[in-house]
Amino acid sequence: MDKNFLNDFPILHSRMNGHPIAYLDNSATTQKPESVVRSICGYYGGCNANPHRGVYELSVKATKVYENARIKVAKFLNAKPQEIIFTKNATESLNLVAYSYGLNNLRGGDEILITIAEHHSNLVPWQRVAKATGATLNYIYLAADGNLSAEEIDKKLTRRTKILAVTQISNVLGIVNDVKTLAAKAHEVGAIIVVDGAQSVPHIPVDVQDLDADFLAFSGHKMLSPMGIGVLYGKKKILDAMPPFLSGGDMIEYVEEQETTFAELPQKFEAGTQNVGGAAGLTAAIDYVQSVGFDTIERIEHDLTTYAIAELKKIPYVELYGCDVENKIGIVTFNVKDVHPHDVATILDAEGVAIRAGHHCAQPLMKYLGQNSTCRASFYFYNTRRDIERLIEAVQKVRSVMRLN
Ligand SMILES: Cc1ncc(COP(=O)(O)O)c(C=O)c1O
Repeated sequence: MDKNFLNDFPILHSRMNGHPIAYLDNSATTQKPESVVRSICGYYGGCNANPHRGVYELSVKATKVYENARIKVAKFLNAKPQEIIFTKNATESLNLVAYSYGLNNLRGGDEILITIAEHHSNLVPWQRVAKATGATLNYIYLAADGNLSAEEIDKKLTRRTKILAVTQISNVLGIVNDVKTLAAKAHEVGAIIVVDGAQSVPHIPVDVQDLDADFLAFSGHKMLSPMGIGVLYGKKKILDAMPPFLSGGDMIEYVEEQETTFAELPQKFEAGTQNVGGAAGLTAAIDYVQSVGFDTIERIEHDLTTYAIAELKKIPYVELYGCDVENKIGIVTFNVKDVHPHDVATILDAEGVAIRAGHHCAQPLMKYLGQNSTCRASFYFYNTRRDIERLIEAVQKVRSVMRLN
């Protein structure tokens, strides 16, 4: 019997449009347990000061909170603390790699390979880097079931490929890519692999050494943490050779009028005052996730996902995308025939069911699927079968509300 997680998430007891809330937009952001909120308040109420700079006790305490968070994240991902760079989110982490690594290591004739299922955060920066360096941006397209096509991978990953950038879990289809195999293939041709872990790190165990990822990015807020704290993992050897991304306070060793030498890792990539409160929240979030355990998280999400797909498949006017694969977790994307996804989401909102409708920051994927937008229900371990029933009941009302039946 699982613990009743709802007791730890007061917001999930609130109401939306007069109904108990069924929060099914966890791919956008997750709710925060009380322990995370307490840790942020505890930091601001008990030891707030600018870290790294002061010699007084409060600043030393703030530095400890911040650096302990780094150690916690490093252990969580099986990395070394110097390989963990704090950013504000996955987007900033991926931009850091694109601008600091990509701009400095690519030239005309080189290729960047990404998948058609990338979030704009792992797509637009590579477009810009390709334009600036003369490199070509290539795409791996999908097989009919929504998985990456093996043929495409073998055809497009060549000695010209210098960077393979791929999401571990698609934020639209919920399909889990075999990043370990992709990393091995990338390394075989001399490319590095950049993993977008925004949708994987909160849901499945991620071990950067086992994956042999060169870089991996994620956002705290999609894993119970506050907004404004993100992580970039990078292999030390690669990070050491990269120039800084942002410049200013804290990332320097010595500044002369015309020249600057930079700090060692990880400070070299952390310019300016950092989000210590966010780091405190991320520490508490990792503690919470570990206390639940990934076995439990995966089991619950698998149950909710298969249940939702089975029930939605019974509704004849619902079209599902990427739902006939085994390697899928936590995300169900669909449309209701003849109804715009925004109308679907608005009707569900009136029933207290929160889902996302739109292009999910993956417009090339939408175009590839032949859709302008879709509805997306996404789950976390605190969701229940009752939330799925509420989703189904609300979807069943959509066409009659639109006077289509
Ligand atoms: C797969 C994926 N990558 C990157 C991001 C960007 O995350 P953030 O907006 O927190 O930077 C998201 C956000 O939805 C995502 O789903």
